[in-house]
Amino acid sequence: MTDAPSPKPGILDIAPYVGGKSKIDGVAEPMKLSSNENMLGAGEKAREAYAAAVSHIHSYPDGRATKLRQVVADHHRLEPERLIFGNGSDEVFALLNQAYLTPGDNIVTGQYGFLAYRISALGCQAEVKLAPEPGFKAEVDALLEQVDDRTRIVYVSSPSNPTGSYNTGEEIHRLHEALPPQVLLVVDEAYAEYVTEPDWETSFPLARDSANIIVTRTFSKIHGLGGLRIGFGYAPLKVAEAIDRIRLPFNVSVPGIEAAVAALGDEAHQKASRDLIQTWRPRLTQALRGFGFDVLPSAGNFVLVKLVDAAQATAANDYLNSKGIIVRPVGGYGLPACLRITVGTEDQNRAVIDAMSEFAAR
Ligand SMILES: Cc1ncc(COP(=O)(O)O)c(C=O)c1O
Repeated sequence: MTDAPSPKPGILDIAPYVGGKSKIDGVAEPMKLSSNENMLGAGEKAREAYAAAVSHIHSYPDGRATKLRQVVADHHRLEPERLIFGNGSDEVFALLNQAYLTPGDNIVTGQYGFLAYRISALGCQAEVKLAPEPGFKAEVDALLEQVDDRTRIVYVSSPSNPTGSYNTGEEIHRLHEALPPQVLLVVDEAYAEYVTEPDWETSFPLARDSANIIVTRTFSKIHGLGGLRIGFGYAPLKVAEAIDRIRLPFNVSVPGIEAAVAALGDEAHQKASRDLIQTWRPRLTQALRGFGFDVLPSAGNFVLVKLVDAAQATAANDYLNSKGIIVRPVGGYGLPACLRITVGTEDQNRAVIDAMSEFAAR
């Protein structure tokens, strides 16, 4: 027994989240393709709104983010009072975990599900049950098999990070129908705007009439505002009201609210961002496959490349770094033989293609 303060049991067993690397020694401006950011940056309208907000930054933000709430509700045709805003959608997951998990409860997600769900669940001394994803995709039956009487939340991201796979609307309906009504189903749609597959559908309509679905979205991807940290969830009113009791009162900032409102109204920037991905995702995939690499089909703004083994993935990562390109090793997801590459601008994608072609030819 020591006298030093110690955190709750289990906290020190949590592997810290490692964000995308942003520096390479000796390279002044590396190409950072490691965090699935919008490589066009934020749009002009959001930048202007952010700059204009400087005259208000001495004031606390509106704790209900009323202006943003109304704009999001109008844009997606949702009831404003059912929205939960967070410091990124990451905070929405953390708040849900905090409000619904007691020690010994569990969350269920796919084997390669986004790490943020797990970290805050473990912080609540809950357990994390992972459903196998042999096809690199969350499977409804495998998820359901993990559900037991201590399961409080099932997390699905569609599209999913880091695999890029998605669940069809029919699959999400089936999962929801089979879940016990006391279990929350969180459908994380962070990459929704990049999807082109016709059998994907947003779960907003399904959530509208359900008492246990939360759909989350973020301003970090298509809107290019990752640095401002704004995300939201559309939840049953009772869930939104529960979260409002524990949420920090001013969890979304003044410039964040202003920039997000402007971004949502900037259809030209959203279109340019979507077009960039829809043009380059297939080109990048095809080019890398042409060099003999296995690239998973992706519905997001990134691709997952499966190398032969972990050693080859490390070598490819090192080679890309030597060319000033940063991608994301995903060993933390149990995918040590894979690299995740954000789809970038034309120049960036060409640089990746050239580097991978050279790497393949070595
Ligand atoms: C699947 C998924 N959900 C949520 C997020 C987090 O978004 P936010 O920036 O809103 O916290 C990410 C970020 O990479 C993600 O990949």
